[in-house]
Amino acid sequence: MIARSQTLDRHAEALRTAFAECRAHTLSLFEDIDDTLFRTQPDPGFSPIGWHLGHIALTEGLWLLRDSAGLALPYPEYEDYFHVERLAKPLRVGVLGKDAVLAYGEAVRADLFRRLDEAPLDDPIELRRWHFVLQHEAMHDETITFLRTLLGARPEAPGWPPSSRPPGEAMVEVPAGRVLMGSADSVAMDNERVPSNVAVPGFRIDVYPVTQADFSDFMAEGGYRRAEFWSDAGRAWLEASGIEHRPLHWREGCTDHPVSGVSLHEAEAYASWAGKRLPSEAEWERAAAASLDGEDDAPHPWGREVPDGERANFGNGVHGTTSVTAQPGGRSAAGCLDMLGNVWEWTATEFHPYPGFEPWPYRSYSEAWFDGRHRVLKGGSWASPRWLLRRSFRNFYEHDVRQILAGFRCAADA
Ligand code: AVJ
Ligand code: FE
Repeated sequence: MIARSQTLDRHAEALRTAFAECRAHTLSLFEDIDDTLFRTQPDPGFSPIGWHLGHIALTEGLWLLRDSAGLALPYPEYEDYFHVERLAKPLRVGVLGKDAVLAYGEAVRADLFRRLDEAPLDDPIELRRWHFVLQHEAMHDETITFLRTLLGARPEAPGWPPSSRPPGEAMVEVPAGRVLMGSADSVAMDNERVPSNVAVPGFRIDVYPVTQADFSDFMAEGGYRRAEFWSDAGRAWLEASGIEHRPLHWREGCTDHPVSGVSLHEAEAYASWAGKRLPSEAEWERAAAASLDGEDDAPHPWGREVPDGERANFGNGVHGTTSVTAQPGGRSAAGCLDMLGNVWEWTATEFHPYPGFEPWPYRSYSEAWFDGRHRVLKGGSWASPRWLLRRSFRNFYEHDVRQILAGFRCAADA
């Protein structure tokens, strides 16, 4: 066999390290999970965490062994269990036990690392496939993390006592200008493509995400009872859900932490009470950019350096939210903090394709959700692995979902 170029070997080594790091984190989420919890549906809208683990393994086999290399999948009979389109969520309960799924994951991974030595990583599509699969596991890791809390497994670590109440009133003015949205990097998902330069009128935006202290004021003023703050859809949701107060992932005493576990409706009701609104995705991105010149394609508010704990709370590093003031190195050019990590942020933008969008690697990664019922969320959470932490990443959920690690910040016209 001809030796591969040094560039290819470097790509392969970086991927091997990243895949191993991601998997170690995935497995850490199962250490304290017994076979019963492994197979239990945590919530009617979500599959058992054991299903997610098998689905991670099948997905890497499908795209990196079968689709890319024409190789056979280990345990081909498991495809029927772990393919999203084959088994309805309620039927995913109890299909396979923890030992079986762990063995499956190891078998696929062993073949995958053998393949990595020969993968044609100089083919841009092949490189994209590897990055897609890595981020696919990362996204399911985050889902497993919040499903664990719904199952009552290890809760978020106790928050530090609040240092002080962050200035709830602080907003910055962002002048009219342009922002580069989307990305054509090999890590970019289909919905981030094709990047384009977008004009954004001047606006104001909160320096920090809305904190529990801020949200307490809304609740104390009858926020959940006063119909005037709620949209029609929000009122209908409120009635149907029976929810009367409090975000789902509320943490007693953590006044300077961002709220987490709100539906879009709660975020909009708060914004209306505060006399503000949610930012559009374009506004959010301009507020998060590392420069206001409109050309900057740095992936983070602070530039190109890799994220660390000074700049963002991510990757399950502290097992929970932190004070919105605890990441001072994360400041963007506009002066906003905590844009990446801590909590996902709801935006005012429905999830739609960018001009030039092409579905990849399959229709239901993004295209199936351009249905007018999904909102864009930005920024990543405390549980988002570092491979999801970039300004251009687009998350999307239906308006009434509150199990996810989502909060928000408000904006206003200039
Ligand atoms: C983009 C996080 C909404 O978890 O439903 C995982 C990601 N797509 N497997 C999801 C996804 C296919 C997706 N989100
Ligand atoms: Fe998936």
